[in-house]
Amino acid sequence: MQLIERVAELSAALQAERDAGRRVGLVPTMGALHAGHQSLVERAAAECDVVAVTVFVNPLQFDEIGDLAAYPRTLAADVALAAAAGASIVFAPPVVEMYPGHPAPPATTVHVAGLTDRLEGASRPGHFDGVATVVTKLLVMAGPCRAYFGEKDFQQLGVVRQLVRDLCLPVEVVGCATVREPDGLALSSRNSRLSPDERRAATVLHRALQAGAATVGAGERQAGEVRAAMASALGREPLVAVDYAEVVDPRSLEPVDEIVGEVRLVLAAAVGPVRLIDNLAAGRPTVDDGFAGRPTADGAPAGRAGVDADAERIGV
Ligand code: PAJ
Repeated sequence: MQLIERVAELSAALQAERDAGRRVGLVPTMGALHAGHQSLVERAAAECDVVAVTVFVNPLQFDEIGDLAAYPRTLAADVALAAAAGASIVFAPPVVEMYPGHPAPPATTVHVAGLTDRLEGASRPGHFDGVATVVTKLLVMAGPCRAYFGEKDFQQLGVVRQLVRDLCLPVEVVGCATVREPDGLALSSRNSRLSPDERRAATVLHRALQAGAATVGAGERQAGEVRAAMASALGREPLVAVDYAEVVDPRSLEPVDEIVGEVRLVLAAAVGPVRLIDNLAAGRPTVDDGFAGRPTADGAPAGRAGVDADAERIGV
């Protein structure tokens, strides 16, 4: 395992791998790695010859200073998990390596218009500019590769696909299914901040998504009814304050009124002091809509995320 802190060293190491004919997989993370991240690394290791995991708590994407300060940092354990999952490089740069002028904001940032207007973008101003900026930098540093992102952050996955297309980055984006606890809670680095009562309450997020998906599966075509099913499930849990629970088009992330084909159920809620997000596919996908799990590079094989998303879909 190589632990790299410098940008030039990462770029050179991955270029050397490509020069030797090896396919590079990249798994960007903010560390505090768990089984969700692990699944991305394992998939990258299965599909690529060399895997680099990046571990960087990106200050640019935190809209609340307290959230940034509370974000868990566990580099030694992260390196061990990444190695066990099949990575051979961990890139963990200090903040000034990524942003030399830090704490002054960088002069150049990346903004993905449209997709970032709603949902997380509306609730967390500036968040997606921070994500888009750091992901663009990491992809440029890494060079041609496959980059693995989780459907857990469904809007982020869409933003990354969009910026890769728009900036013509030589990267195949691979979307990977959400890994959950046995009780349905999506794994998240933030779960460790939940008290035992909050942890129990947090399971309502997945139950609400399942209730919404079951409503779609039973033939409901009015999104309002599906939203109501999710809201009613969430409303039974007093420790949970809902931010949004929406039925959206899986590509545009625009709210839909009438459900035709596949939709994405997306929600965000505060459970005590911790903000959690989750999402689930529902409805029948339209014939080969070219979205789920399909890497962006021309001629590349379709990824598995569509299949995995199918496995998560309920009631269809
Ligand atoms: P982080 O929250 O550490 O997540 C890193 C990657 O792991 C993301 O692609 C995320 O979607 C995926 N992931 C997280 N929980 C998952 C789960 N339960 N199942 C499957 N995949 C999961 O997302 C970020 O970091 C940052 O925004 C980043 C893209 C690294 C930019 O800073």
